[in-house]
Amino acid sequence: MALRITSLQEYHRLYEQSLRDPDAFWAEVASDFHWQQPWTKVSEGGFARADFRWFSGARLNISENCLDRHLKSFGSRTALIWEPNDPNEINRTFTYRQLYEEVCRCGSMLRQMGIGKGDTVCIYLPMIPELVISVLACARIGAVHSVVFGGFSSQSLADRIRDSQSKLLITADGYFRGNKPVYLKQMADEALEQCTSVKHVLVVNRSNFPIAIHAGRDSYWDQHMAKSSPVCEAESMDAEDPLFILYTSGSTGKPKGLLHTTAGYMVYTGFTFLNVFQYRENEVFWCTADVGWITGHSYVVYGPLLNAATVLIFEGVPQYPTWSRWWEIIDKYQVNILYTAPTAIRSFEAHGDHHLQQASLRTLRVLGSVGEPINEEAWHWYYEKIGKGNCPIVDTWWQTETGGIALSALAGVTPHKPAHVGWPLPGIVPVVMDENGNAVTDTQTEGSLCLARSWPGQARSIYGDHERFIQTYFSRFPGFYFTGDGCRRDAQGYYRITGRIDDVIKVSGHRLGTAELENAINQHPDVVESAVVTLPHPITGESIVAFVVSPDEVTDRNKLEKEVMDLVARTIGPIARPRQVFAVSGLPKTRSGKIMRRILRRLIQGERQDLGDSSTLLNPEIVDEIAKLLEHQPVRTD
Ligand code: WTA
Repeated sequence: MALRITSLQEYHRLYEQSLRDPDAFWAEVASDFHWQQPWTKVSEGGFARADFRWFSGARLNISENCLDRHLKSFGSRTALIWEPNDPNEINRTFTYRQLYEEVCRCGSMLRQMGIGKGDTVCIYLPMIPELVISVLACARIGAVHSVVFGGFSSQSLADRIRDSQSKLLITADGYFRGNKPVYLKQMADEALEQCTSVKHVLVVNRSNFPIAIHAGRDSYWDQHMAKSSPVCEAESMDAEDPLFILYTSGSTGKPKGLLHTTAGYMVYTGFTFLNVFQYRENEVFWCTADVGWITGHSYVVYGPLLNAATVLIFEGVPQYPTWSRWWEIIDKYQVNILYTAPTAIRSFEAHGDHHLQQASLRTLRVLGSVGEPINEEAWHWYYEKIGKGNCPIVDTWWQTETGGIALSALAGVTPHKPAHVGWPLPGIVPVVMDENGNAVTDTQTEGSLCLARSWPGQARSIYGDHERFIQTYFSRFPGFYFTGDGCRRDAQGYYRITGRIDDVIKVSGHRLGTAELENAINQHPDVVESAVVTLPHPITGESIVAFVVSPDEVTDRNKLEKEVMDLVARTIGPIARPRQVFAVSGLPKTRSGKIMRRILRRLIQGERQDLGDSSTLLNPEIVDEIAKLLEHQPVRTD
């Protein structure tokens, strides 16, 4: 029986047990899964060398736990419902047995193409069933999946393929996002011009857009699947064998490939899905995240399927054909749990409640939020208008690095509080650090959020660079995992996340690094240097503002500003396009040459009088110039 926490008392009891004897706690949680061979040690290692391991000695396959294990009792239960972008196109559904068969065929197909245990497969697909099938098929044959969000550019795709040394790429000919065509295969082709590791490309026929086929390299998914064996034995994996690499942005320019391994990730995502959402048998769960992000990995694919849940995936966008689309989908499939991001909630709110008029939404039982802080106004709108005042909201804090939800209410079990993520999950030990690196013991406090102890879902490394992993997460506060977030803790011990305190930014819940954006901008031949800062934005949370320095000869500043925006969108992806670009003759710097972003941030917020300590400022004339420029060309806040 899966370990389900059903009352407040039980939460407190189990939380305490998880601190007193973590190994006993996690062994009990793990006993619900299917193991080919049991573990010899529940946990070992530590933060100093970041050599923590979970369930050592165990052997298992996560796809067996997501599929085979359920066939006897739930073979005919719906596992996956796919709603296409176009509401007039026919949807697709898969029972657990059908999904199992597709995954087996896909696993056989990959093996046929020479992919085996330890090989990396890059998946660059829209939100279609083949995405879920590919992920599970990789897991089945022991291949490491590296999913790249379909909205990333060919350059971002190329960087990720090269870093992960992917041998095979799964993509689609193209697709529609709303009424906009996306030429995915064309972008994949451009990326592959720079990559030598990919020997085969499998193309899912989704749009019938004309595409180039490279003989000997490209072939169609359907043709192979039709002749693939429906029998595909699951590879026996060690608990710590890699399951996937997922790239995410950090403080430095290059996105890092976080590496997750098999057993701990499985136990953690399975446990958190069941308990945070309090999932009940036969409920329909809809997580609106793309599988290209960690939320999609953990709560579209693994967490729900480990619990034999029915998962809905949607290919389209919230506004197509109208802003009512999501609510129509919820009524059509009788969705019980909706898990989405504050940006989406704020967009709906901004477009007006009349889009909700036709919707019943009566099947909804639990609402979730993830990816960025949710402001109180959006929280109340979500609670009243979508939840009709009777669905608990779980505001779930976690990261690509944590693998699964770490701080959150448990729906209907522990209290929810607007704009607060609540209490830690069992096994999670949050610590608030002050500026001097001392853990603050007062309940009511504010500081940097760290976690004091390993948990099973924790990322194990940065692919190919363990030293960077140690440096990034375990060196600032020795003995602790540093999250990069600031937080507050109130008198009841509820946590509130105040946002990133490093150079990571969140735009519409998408994680980007300022250094990564600046690298892209600096590729422009007329840009000498640049600085990226963000402005609070009512819908997207933050919006990107870039300052670029160009040589004096460049006179057409408007042209340059527009080119810089396009360059970023092309290099990283449309999600990274700056909202505004300002061409300036210099940037405020310290005497030692460091760009003072703090001053730029104040200037765009119109706080010219309040620039803070500027005694180290080398070039006050630049501050005057920028302030004047901003008077004539105001910063856009819409
Ligand atoms: C932010 C997304 C406030 C936070 C799962 C974190 C949140 C970063 C919340 C990780 C939340 C995530 N409230 N902030 N409920 N959830 N964040 O890796 O800054 O894309 O560090 O993982 O998102 O982003 P990532």
